[in-house]
Amino acid sequence: MATPTASFLRFLLFSVLVFLCTLDNLGFALQPRELESEHLTHMHTLNVSSLIRSTTCSPSTKGSNKRASLTVVDKHGPCSQLNQDKVKAPTMTEILEQDQSRVNSIHARLSKKLGLNGLRASKATTIPAKSGSTIGSSNYVVTIGLGTPKRDLTLIFDTGSDITWTQCRPCLKCYQQKEPTFDPSKSSTYSNISCSSSVCSQLSFATGNSPRCSSSTCVYRIQYGDKSFSVGFFGKEKLTLTPSDVFKNFLFGCGENNQGLFSGAAGLLGLGRNPLSLIQQTATKYNRVFSYCLPSTSSATGHLTFGKTASSSSAIKFTPFSKLTENTSFYGLNTLGITVGGKKLSIATSVFSNAGTVIDSGTVITRLPHDAYSALKAAFKAKMKSYPLTSGFSLLDTCYDLSKYKTVSIPKISFLFSGNVKVDLDVSGIILAQKISQVCLAFAGNSDNDSVGIFGNVQQRRLEVVYDVAGGRVGFGPAGCT
Ligand SMILES: *[C@@H]1O[C@H](CO)[C@@H](O)[C@H](O)[C@H]1NC(C)=O
Ligand SMILES: *[C@@H]1O[C@H](CO)[C@@H](O)[C@H](O)[C@H]1NC(C)=O
Ligand SMILES: *[C@@H]1O[C@H](CO)[C@@H](O)[C@H](O)[C@H]1NC(C)=O
Ligand SMILES: *[C@@H]1O[C@H](CO)[C@@H](O)[C@H](O)[C@H]1NC(C)=O
Repeated sequence: MATPTASFLRFLLFSVLVFLCTLDNLGFALQPRELESEHLTHMHTLNVSSLIRSTTCSPSTKGSNKRASLTVVDKHGPCSQLNQDKVKAPTMTEILEQDQSRVNSIHARLSKKLGLNGLRASKATTIPAKSGSTIGSSNYVVTIGLGTPKRDLTLIFDTGSDITWTQCRPCLKCYQQKEPTFDPSKSSTYSNISCSSSVCSQLSFATGNSPRCSSSTCVYRIQYGDKSFSVGFFGKEKLTLTPSDVFKNFLFGCGENNQGLFSGAAGLLGLGRNPLSLIQQTATKYNRVFSYCLPSTSSATGHLTFGKTASSSSAIKFTPFSKLTENTSFYGLNTLGITVGGKKLSIATSVFSNAGTVIDSGTVITRLPHDAYSALKAAFKAKMKSYPLTSGFSLLDTCYDLSKYKTVSIPKISFLFSGNVKVDLDVSGIILAQKISQVCLAFAGNSDNDSVGIFGNVQQRRLEVVYDVAGGRVGFGPAGCT
C-alpha cells in the first residue's frame, strides 16, 4: 500500500515528465551540441567572401588523366580561352535573359498542345523575339579536334540538341569566333554528304527542318529559338576527341551561314538522344555512356568523359529516363519531390508528373512548375528569415543582402527522382551572387503548372552526372569535379 510520501513522489515524477515533454515539444530539450549537429546536417555554412567570382583559374585534376575525357570550362570564366579581348562576356543580366529565351524555345518544342513531337513542333511555333538568342546561355565549352591536319575548335556542349556543327569557310555569314574558322577545303578527310544518302534524310528529325539540296550536296538548317541558327553543308570528317579517340566519318554540319550569341565558340557539340548526335555516332566505342561534372565556379574546370569510367560506380545513383521525352532530343527525368533543410516540401507528386522534367546542360537556372516553385521559395525564405531580403534580380525573385555578414547558413536542397534517388545539390547549385548585397535563390518558376520543368546547369554544378543512354537512365553522384 502506497504511503502519502510515495504518491507525492509519484506525482512529482509525473509533473517533471510532463514538464520535460512540454519542453521537448517547444524544442528546448535538445542540447546545444545536438542543435549544432542538426544545423550541420541540414544547412551549408559558408564564408560570404567565397561567393564572389575569382579572376584566376584553378583547374581540377580529376578526369584529365582519363582516356576519353575533355576539360569543361565556363566559357566566360578565367579558365576559358574564349575569355579574352575579342569577345565580350555577357553580363549576368544578359545570361539570364538568354536563359529565358532558351527555356521559351524548350517549352515550345515540348508543348503538350503540340503533342510532344519534339523538334518537329518548333516549326509550328513562333517564339517571341527576345534580345538574346537561346544558345548563348549554354555556358560550358570543350575543345575538340576536327579534320586533317587537325584543327582545335571550342564548342558549346548541349544535351538538348543532336547535331554537331561548326562555322565553315567560305562563310556567307559567320559571327566572330576565337579560333580560326574551319576550312573543309584545307582538310584531306572532309567529304560532303549527298542528298540521296539515307543520313541526309535523318536531318528532318534531328533538326526539325527537311534537308535541302545544293548541287546534290545535302544542306542542313537548325534554329534554336528566335534568332540563332546555323545553315550549311552536311559533311563527314575526322573527329579527334583525344589522341587515342579518333572517329573517321563523323557526321556534322559545316555551317556557312550562322547567327547567334555564341560568344566566340566555334559551334555546338550535340549530345542529345537521336541518331545523329555524337553519343549515337560513337556508340560502338562508348556504348552510349557519357558523363560530366560542371565546375562550381567559372574559375574552376570540370570534365566531359565518354564511355564508362571507374567513377560510374556505387556512389552514382540511377534514375530511369521518363517516357515523356522519349521521341525528342531531351533526356527526361521523373521528379518526385524536393527537400529544403531536410524537410520534404508538401507538393503533390502530380504537380511534377503533369509537367514532366528534362535535364539540360544548356539551361542555366532550374525551372519548376509554378506551384512547386512557390513551395520551394516559401520554405527557403522561412529558413533564411534572419537575413534581410532585397530586390529581385532578372528572373531570380528571392534575394538577400549579405553585406553585413561574414558567414551565411543556407538550407540544403535535395531533389528526389524515381528509383529512390536523392540528389543533394552542391551549395553552388542553390544560390547565385550577383554581388554580396544581392545573393539570390538560384531557381525560377514557370508561369503555369503545365510547362515542362528543367533541371538546369547551375543545379548540376559539381555533381557527377552520368548519362547511360543505352540503359535508359541518368545517374548522379557527389563531388564529381574535385
Ligand atoms: C572561412 O574563412 C576562414 C578564415 O578566413 C577560414 O579559416 C575558413 O576555413 C573558411 N571557411 C570556409 C567554409 O571556406
Ligand atoms: C561540297 O558541296 C558544295 C556544294 O556543292 C561545294 O561547293 C563544295 O566544294 C563541296 N566540298 C567538297 C569538299 O567536295
Ligand atoms: C514515341 O514513338 C513511338 C514510335 O513512333 C511511339 O510508339 C510512342 O508512343 C512515342 N512516345 C511518345 C511519348 O510520344
Ligand atoms: C496550379 O495548380 C493548382 C492546383 O493543382 C491551382 O490551385 C493553381 O492555381 C495552379 N497555378 C497556376 C499558376 O496555374
